[in-house]
Amino acid sequence: MLADRIPREESVMQGFYEQILGTPGVLRLDVGEPDFGTPSHIVEAAAEAARSGWTHYTSTWGIPELRRKISEKLERDNRFYADPKSELVVVDGGSAGILFVILSLVDPGGNVLIPDPGWLMYEPYVKFAGGKPIRYPLLEEEGFKIDIDSIKRSSVGAKLIIVNSPSNPTGAVHSRKELEEIADIAVESGALILSDEAYEKFVFADSRHVSPASLNGMKERVVSVYSFSKTYAMTGWRIGYVSARSTIAKAVSLMNLYFNACPSSVSQAAALAALDGPQDFVEETKVEYERRRDAVIGLLKGSGGVRFVEPKGTFYIFAGLDGVDDAVDFAMKLLEDKGVSVMPGDVFGPSARDHVRISLTLPIPRLSEAIRRLSEFVEGR
Ligand SMILES: Cc1ncc(COP(=O)(O)O)c(C=O)c1O
Repeated sequence: MLADRIPREESVMQGFYEQILGTPGVLRLDVGEPDFGTPSHIVEAAAEAARSGWTHYTSTWGIPELRRKISEKLERDNRFYADPKSELVVVDGGSAGILFVILSLVDPGGNVLIPDPGWLMYEPYVKFAGGKPIRYPLLEEEGFKIDIDSIKRSSVGAKLIIVNSPSNPTGAVHSRKELEEIADIAVESGALILSDEAYEKFVFADSRHVSPASLNGMKERVVSVYSFSKTYAMTGWRIGYVSARSTIAKAVSLMNLYFNACPSSVSQAAALAALDGPQDFVEETKVEYERRRDAVIGLLKGSGGVRFVEPKGTFYIFAGLDGVDDAVDFAMKLLEDKGVSVMPGDVFGPSARDHVRISLTLPIPRLSEAIRRLSEFVEGR
């Protein structure tokens, strides 16, 4: 039964969430979404679309105007071309995109390489498809760099290598060189790359986001998944897109059809307005996350017992806790004692039982107060 394939962490997390929701006034650093509202021009465009009757099923692939805009954006920002007619599919968020790609490509028993630590949904999605998730390490001592040798060893016979840059939960931004090395492994082993670029717009200072599909000769071998959720603070709209060679895009469009008929028409209108309109919001929120990162790092540097790698992107800090071997227990006690919630590392993979993810999704005064309490808790243990 499908439900039996859900990992143990899911039920542990359910108890944790119930505890958070049942505790008044919690300073929440566990949240995986922007604390900003969707920009008003996007909301207005969607409301206007709904009022004017844009309330019907759309093409299974997504409305053509949106796919054209996405194709322009990919060419301009991500530096590769995807044909809007045959290589782009609009989906209900990056989550659906990743699931549909996995269901399209992975046969029962097929090996899929996923990062450790990595976003919590990769493993259940691979299991839904009957595939076998195989973890490759991100090396904390090297700034959460990808362990290329491990990927090389596990790539024999693998169907898919999932790469996530900027990375949730580590905040690492993988370099062009790292990505080129993975590309070489994919070519040698015959595997495809699934590139999850949900945080593409949140890359700080001198780091740069590189889309694996833009690397020399790689477009046919890379399936790229994007989301409006984080970029435009649109998590609840459930909208994203997949770029892939036409045979794979066709399969993903069929998944769309079987699961939902099409993505939400109103959310597609919102997505169109997001790409069409001013981009200041994206830049402003990135600058704000970077300010928050610097503020938290400044505070954590002065406190003992917490180690971290400075994140180069996303809105997370992945902190290691000296002397902790059960991050769920740590998070529960922190919540009870200090009214602060963090995400236990366990949910991101077996390597992270002594880590917690801190989200930079509170304004600086409240964020600083939360970090002060966290430090006090760690030092008092
Ligand atoms: C790494 C990563 N990929 C994909 C997603 C999917 O986001 P959405 O389904 O909201 O587009 C998330 C959401 O948290 C994420 O963290």
